[in-house]
Amino acid sequence: MAVIVVVMRLHVVDHPLVAHKLSTLRDERTDSPTFRRLTDELVTLLAYEATRDVRTETVEITTPVAVTRGTRLSYPRPLVVPILRAGLGMLDGMTRLLPTAEVGFLGMVRNEETLEASTYATRMPDDLSGRQVYVLDPMLATGGTLVAAIRMLIDRGATDVTAVVLLASPEGVAVMERELAGQPVTVVTAAVDERLNEHGYIVPGLGDAGDRLYGTAG
Ligand code: URA
Repeated sequence: MAVIVVVMRLHVVDHPLVAHKLSTLRDERTDSPTFRRLTDELVTLLAYEATRDVRTETVEITTPVAVTRGTRLSYPRPLVVPILRAGLGMLDGMTRLLPTAEVGFLGMVRNEETLEASTYATRMPDDLSGRQVYVLDPMLATGGTLVAAIRMLIDRGATDVTAVVLLASPEGVAVMERELAGQPVTVVTAAVDERLNEHGYIVPGLGDAGDRLYGTAG
């Protein structure tokens, strides 16, 4: 009997507009308002790829000329889950393409010494059976936050989870592949960078995404 092994799918979006916007995000001279606008635009481009397998159904529609068959998103609607705080900067870019999606929230924080992720807020349905979920976090660095978030979503019944990230590290991708082996998980990113540094930052990266989006007050 054949054994089917599910491996995490990694999709690096190779497009000149993605590369251009990402390069401006990386630049330390890019101010917060520009950073927020470019994040929003970049996420919309990533969302186009990330939703390639969004579930649809066939419907009958009437054009001014004829009756034909069309396509619409099927129920249950997808769920979009930004991971607070930095994932919030990606929400509008995602829901622009999926305006009827529901939105849940997950507050997670990384201990900057141990690099361990812990959850401080959860607002989403307990039962995600049959749901497609898009989880938003700008940086796939150590992988700890996304692994914990995706485990929670799968434990609640999500049938497939797509992580949309601006940037990934090779170490983070390897952790996701190992920790989520056999789970229906896809990662969509604009780039996989060189490495993580000793502080858990992606190199060359773009710095602290939350600080660059919202400043250092939070
Ligand atoms: N989080 C960030 O905001 N930046 C990194 O490089 C890694 C984690």
